[in-house]
Parts: sequence; structure tokens; C-alpha cells
Amino acid sequence: MDRKEFLSQLGMGAAGLVLFGCMGGCEKETVPAAPTNVNITLDMTTTAYAKLLTPGQFAYTSNGIIVALTIGTTTNPSKYLAVSQYCTHQGVTVEFLSGSSDFYCTAHNSRFSSTGAVMSGPAGSALKQYTVVQTDNILTITG
Ligand code: FES
Repeated sequence: MDRKEFLSQLGMGAAGLVLFGCMGGCEKETVPAAPTNVNITLDMTTTAYAKLLTPGQFAYTSNGIIVALTIGTTTNPSKYLAVSQYCTHQGVTVEFLSGSSDFYCTAHNSRFSSTGAVMSGPAGSALKQYTVVQTDNILTITG
């Protein structure tokens, strides 16, 4: 018995097939909340965050923030960016695109600016942005 015969015997037609196919796969995922009342420090002399000393690199904090250092140019120097790592569409972790200094979600191709604003969906709301202050090898992230 093939799938069509099976569904036919269950009394389901094409609509049933669509419903059957969506069960468990079409519902909206729970998006983790962006961290709030953040006041953390990252020590870039540690293995976990040493790559943040290199322009174009990024890292994730333990509380759900992606931190990146832009590549920069002679007229626009490198700077640190920090936004919530959870895509506002379905909560998948975003990545940093060093060439354009924005954030990208590989799940369904949402793109966010360096400040977390939506550049293209399906995400409909911005990533929460945080303030980053560098003091020597320490980054302080607040927001
Ligand atoms: S979860 Fe990021 S675009 Fe869908």
C-alpha cells in the first residue's frame, strides 16, 4: 500500500495530505527572548573570546549574544557590534557576515543590519542591540 492508498483508506484527500505533512513542522517555533538587563564582560585573553581581537571575527556569549568586530577601513575603523543571537523569525542562531558587517540567519535567509534592524525577512522584528565598550582586552556589553 502506498501513501495515497493509505490516506484514502483513512478518508483523507489532498487536504488531508497537506495537513498530515504540516503536523509538527508548520507550527511557529518558540523564539528565545533576547537577553535583557545585560552587564557582562568578555576577556579577550581567554580562548573563548581571543578571536574577537581579529577584525571580521565573531563569538557568542553564554547568555545569547553575538559579538563581532567589523573589518573596517582607513576611513571607517573596526568597531564592535553586539546583538541578540536569536533570529526573531524562529529563533535560529544568526551569524556575522564580515564582508558587509551585518547578521544573517541561514535557516530562512533573514538578514539584519549591524544594528540588528531587519534588512530582509521573513523575520519581522529587529534583533536587540547592545552597547559594547572596549578597555584594553576587556569588552563590556550592556543593554
Ligand atoms: S529562523 Fe531565521 S529566518 Fe527563519
